[in-house]
Amino acid sequence: MKKVVLDMDTGVDDALAIVLAMNAPELDVVAITTVAGNVSVEKCTRNSLLLTEILQPDDPPPVAEGASTPLVKQLVTAPEVHGPDGLGGELGTLPTPSRPRLEVPAHEVLTALPRECPGEITLVATGPLTNVARALREDRTGMALCERLVIMGGAFGVPGNTGPVAEFNFYVDPEAAQIVMDSGLDITLVPLDVTTATILTREVLEGYRGTGGDAKRRPGRDLGAILYRALDYYIRYQLKESGLDAGYMHDPLAVASVIEPSIVTATTGRVEVVPGGKDRGRSFAHPPGPGGPEVRIATSVDARTFARLLGRGVLSPTFGL
Ligand code: BDR
Ligand code: CA
Repeated sequence: MKKVVLDMDTGVDDALAIVLAMNAPELDVVAITTVAGNVSVEKCTRNSLLLTEILQPDDPPPVAEGASTPLVKQLVTAPEVHGPDGLGGELGTLPTPSRPRLEVPAHEVLTALPRECPGEITLVATGPLTNVARALREDRTGMALCERLVIMGGAFGVPGNTGPVAEFNFYVDPEAAQIVMDSGLDITLVPLDVTTATILTREVLEGYRGTGGDAKRRPGRDLGAILYRALDYYIRYQLKESGLDAGYMHDPLAVASVIEPSIVTATTGRVEVVPGGKDRGRSFAHPPGPGGPEVRIATSVDARTFARLLGRGVLSPTFGL
């Protein structure tokens, strides 16, 4: 089993990424670290604690809380996409997790774990890169002991989702994104160019729900009810915004590419992230060369294999067809 750490701003698609990773026989989720992004970091921590203890009640992975604001910029959140609580619901409607978060801050966990298991940890980062940048600043050697980093972020040949040109995670903390892109670590970027090719349609979701009926159930500790409410909100937002009756599976694709690396093909390039101004968060890929370290940038995805992994790991076990 491959050891993974998930660093995330636990909104709707991050939640699906947790379920996909924890249900994958190929992966061992050793910890989750949270970062402000889709919602406040406290909500991300609460959502992560709740989901992990429902999925693995006997021995849930620890959750450590990280940055509450980006390195330099003010925090921008996206409740219109992910709901006021980050999982498509009003505040106070989710159950309270039964265990506390770790006392240790996220950026320390991000370097302590690879130091414990050198060369064995894959870090999957699906939020703004604030924690990862901090970890690099404080203990680059520890971070370099990760096997590799898989990062959902950036938009190259497609429009942005936060304004016309920027992808949300890079937009929220562009300084952190640049630090991570320049780190020289083994990085695979999973940008909007490929994540927007992996969607979950309303039709497929309702199909998996089979007989239906649990939509109106209170979320309680039923994973199906919690995730249905989250996805229903997420898809309704997309329908209103763009006319697409589906939700983008950004963060689950990052996890899927660790379960099955051949699911994406990639090019290499040096990534520049625009720090501010009207193009804040925009990413450019420059050709490999002497200008700085390169990362792999996913350019195409096998959407059928992704759909199979999502069905196997999330939809079937959660909605019970
Ligand atoms: C990214 O932004 C967030 O809203 C999603 O969770 C995903 O990580 C997509 O741009
Ligand atoms: Ca995310």
